[in-house]
Amino acid sequence: MSIDRCFRTADFRRMAKRRLPPALFHYIDGGADDESTLRRNTDAFERVDLVPNVLAGMDQVDMSTTVLGQPLKVPFFFSPTAMQRLFHHDGERAVAAAAQELGSLFGVSTMGTRSIEELGGSFDAPKLFQMYIHNDPEMTRDLIRRCKEANFNALALTVDTVVAGNRERDHHTGMTTPPKLTPRTLIGFAAKPGWTLNYLLRERFDLPNVSRYLNAGSSVSSSIIDYIDSHMKSSISWDEAADMVAQWGGPFVLKGVMSVDDAKRAVDIGASAIMISNHGGRQLDGGRSPFDQLPAIADAVGGQIEIILDGGIRRGTHILKALAAGATACSGGRFYLYALAAGGTAGVLRAATLLRDEVHRDMMLMGARSLAELNPTMLARRP
Ligand code: LAC
Repeated sequence: MSIDRCFRTADFRRMAKRRLPPALFHYIDGGADDESTLRRNTDAFERVDLVPNVLAGMDQVDMSTTVLGQPLKVPFFFSPTAMQRLFHHDGERAVAAAAQELGSLFGVSTMGTRSIEELGGSFDAPKLFQMYIHNDPEMTRDLIRRCKEANFNALALTVDTVVAGNRERDHHTGMTTPPKLTPRTLIGFAAKPGWTLNYLLRERFDLPNVSRYLNAGSSVSSSIIDYIDSHMKSSISWDEAADMVAQWGGPFVLKGVMSVDDAKRAVDIGASAIMISNHGGRQLDGGRSPFDQLPAIADAVGGQIEIILDGGIRRGTHILKALAAGATACSGGRFYLYALAAGGTAGVLRAATLLRDEVHRDMMLMGARSLAELNPTMLARRP
């Protein structure tokens, strides 16, 4: 199978499953506990129907928007995700290149495998740094300084990860970072020699944004759950978020807001945007899906703050539904992570281009010339 035969996220996912050792595939694919929230994030879009307007004299479609002060040619961007070089040696560079090609924005994780400096220096596309507050306050200050020096355009503080979610697939597969040879993982690595050779022969695994602050660097294997629970600060508060808004002084996003009250508080502390997100169903299982929660949040803070719908996006129509319900733009992780694993830079570019073309086609079919024309009258909830 080649990426040319991939037309939808499910196709890239199948290919990723063939290429990756199980520990890595399931790390991307899995969620917390029973994975009910993970499933709901996408299922939620199926309960709401699009209602098109016809004979709209459609000649062209304008998909452009502005997110975090950055003009984007498409109404979606690449959420920050951890450890991309484990899924393909192109790693973060693939995602940055696709964002650049499409005129979109990309996120870089604190747990990324390419440095703030490298990505800042190599790609002009708008970029956002995702902050995980670790226990060492000096580290947070220094990361903010590094992002400013590397000309990052926006900072996102992740607020839904004060402890690690219970990702049972990782327990079963023995997923660690960096991956470790154990009796449990050995068979999986041996079954995927292509991945294993790349991992062994190419540049060594590193978490260059954090390793300089950790005693043992990032070379000691630990589970993601142990990493989060031992290094990240669990007692983060609104005061700390407000301090960060001031310290950064630029476009600022709170990533992982789900309640209406928290959305209002995000406005109060001067955030530029919220990402309505449950971390791809990887944290609190049983939580509501971002799309189900969007109307209440748009009602309360629409027009006062940008609203990014993060999670569950698999189709152009999902993006249109979110925009019609009040989102400024959408973002996602898995839609490009499967494609990264399937085909590196070419894979990510293909997945994102297909999604862009879907948005374009769907706007034509909806009779919407611009994103501003999408509105709640174009949605109907099925009983
Ligand atoms: C995860 C973290 C590391 O979801 O963002 O795995």
